[in-house]
Amino acid sequence: MHQSGPGAAPPLVAERLAKTFDDGDVEVPVIADLSFTLNAGEIVSIVGPSGCGKTTLLNVVCGLTPASSGSVLWHGAAPQGMPGRVGYMLQKDMLLPWRTALSNVTLGMEIKGKVGMEERDKARVLLDRLGLHGFTDRYPATFSGGMRQRVALARTLVNDPEVLLFDEPFAALDFQTKLLLEADTVRLVREEGRSLLCITHDIEEAVSISDRVIVLTKRPTRAKAVYEIDLGDQHADMMEARQSPRFNDHVRAIWRDLEVSGT
Ligand SMILES: Nc1ncnc2c1ncn2[C@@H]1O[C@H](COP(=O)(O)OP(=O)(O)OP(=O)(O)O)[C@@H](O)[C@H]1O
Ligand SMILES: [Mg+2]
Repeated sequence: MHQSGPGAAPPLVAERLAKTFDDGDVEVPVIADLSFTLNAGEIVSIVGPSGCGKTTLLNVVCGLTPASSGSVLWHGAAPQGMPGRVGYMLQKDMLLPWRTALSNVTLGMEIKGKVGMEERDKARVLLDRLGLHGFTDRYPATFSGGMRQRVALARTLVNDPEVLLFDEPFAALDFQTKLLLEADTVRLVREEGRSLLCITHDIEEAVSISDRVIVLTKRPTRAKAVYEIDLGDQHADMMEARQSPRFNDHVRAIWRDLEVSGT
């Protein structure tokens, strides 16, 4: 178990990250200079113009792509390879069509060679909590986009990740489904004391779920602005949060930042 008390290093710190791809004859600078911290229990969102380097940033943070310079520290140390207890969620749910909802959720545990009654029960409880009671033995082809992302979320959470990395997992969903999934995600993240770094192009989503929003410039990207979001008690409820006057102020300010960045 990691330390999470005062004085403990934050789960994730990025320091002066830079990334340039070497694409044959041309060098493609994608991340110019980026630093941020994800503290224990925090939800931090990152918004930025299309193609500015958001997915690249997540890939660097979780060790899939090496940084050109700067450092990524997990609990104060640079991990060898992939950091432990990290859950990654993508826009595409990557469910396997020939497996039921339940066996999609237990897939990771199966690969590690440990799926018994206990693991299956844990998966079932998560699917229940995500509103999929009665669907555990059905196949993904019969599910809506929202249900598929709920299964994908259960699959991510069942491994008990300390930090979640989201790359626009709700982008393709309709507005109402997206709101419901955001609310469930925030509830599950907060209740279990996890941390979430969420890439999104939806400014309202970012403001309604986050403690902090980082706005990126266009490529090669750097932080253009950082907003601490405090919507008071209203933050606990997704719809209430959106009614708060401060919510609209933040949304307008971030919109202006992105307008100036260019998309
Ligand atoms: N392996 C690679 N080699 C060269 N260039 C790359 C590579 N991967 C990404 N890029 C370039 O990096 C830039 C940023 O890509 P990235 O996918 O990180 O952006 P993004 O902000 O996630 O975009 P989107 O908003 O479309 O999701 C793009 O111009 C892309 O072409
Ligand atoms: Mg992307």
